[in-house]
Amino acid sequence: MKHDETCRVASHVDAGAGYKRIVLEAPAIAPETRPGQFVHVRVPALADTDLRRPFSVFDAHGGKIEILYKVVGRGTEAFAQTPPGAEVSVLGPLGRGFPAPAAGATAILVGGGYGVAPLHFLARDLARSGSAQRPVVFAGGRTAADLLAVEDFEAAGARCILATEDGSRGAKGFVTGPLDAALKEFRAAGRPFELYACGPDGLLKAVTERALELGVPGWISTDRHMVCGVGACFACIQKTRDASGGTVNSRCCINGPVFKAAELVWD
Ligand SMILES: Cc1cc2nc3c(=O)[nH]c(=O)nc-3n(C[C@H](O)[C@H](O)[C@H](O)COP(=O)(O)OP(=O)(O)OC[C@H]3O[C@@H](n4cnc5c(N)ncnc54)[C@H](O)[C@@H]3O)c2cc1C
Ligand code: FES
Repeated sequence: MKHDETCRVASHVDAGAGYKRIVLEAPAIAPETRPGQFVHVRVPALADTDLRRPFSVFDAHGGKIEILYKVVGRGTEAFAQTPPGAEVSVLGPLGRGFPAPAAGATAILVGGGYGVAPLHFLARDLARSGSAQRPVVFAGGRTAADLLAVEDFEAAGARCILATEDGSRGAKGFVTGPLDAALKEFRAAGRPFELYACGPDGLLKAVTERALELGVPGWISTDRHMVCGVGACFACIQKTRDASGGTVNSRCCINGPVFKAAELVWD
């Protein structure tokens, strides 16, 4: 069930490289939020007529939700000015999140930029639920500054494999290099796994292709511009395949943001 909750800012800090982390007291929203779902935030410094901004939940625990976000424009610049103690109107939880992997399967999480946010919540959730399989995280970026929340993933018990295009941290090149090597090892050892991805479209397409080629479950979190966030405006279209193989326009906010890899149609 979604709530329109007035949330007090518990903390709001810089996370480097133009990113911020904000913790909101959300006793109604937090316990109902699943990894991969998002919240729609009314930025206090903007006018009431301004659109809400959607953000994935980085973590939800103890009646609080945390968001990891990048300052990219007018809305996020204004959001970044919100001080601890301020009140923020938050609508959520919204959308369909990630399912947990099947028993015995390892969750392989592939993220780029702020796309690591919902993957982090999934890693935390698996740790809290006592999952026997340690998730493996593949995080990629242009430089070391783009690799976010690595320590948080490690604290959640995940194994992190990093890649940067300039080689400043982890392997040099795209994260799909080390990912392919690991997928080969998993296959050779007969170890079951499921793929989870969130990040730029290029990364999502690459993970979709691998899930389909290998015939393993793939869960892809898409990022489309949103207006209403609740299915009313059709601003957030993602092309998907229906049961008969035809192409349909799905709404990212209510049919996603997480889709099965096999459902997605990329232009
Ligand atoms: C389901 C979902 C989850 C998201 N989760 C996060 C998150 O965890 N952390 C985070 O930092 N951001 C997240 N975003 C993106 C975030 O909503 C936008 O960055 C934000 O709304 C931009 O607002 P603005 O007014 O600052 O930027 P604007 O002034 O509106 O735009 C500035 C720039 O950002 C681009 N932009 C705006 N919205 C998006 C978008 N949805 N995707 C890609 N580019 C966009 C614009 O094209 C423009 O280039 C998410 C988006 C969706 C749809
Ligand atoms: S944002 Fe309005 S339908 Fe998805």
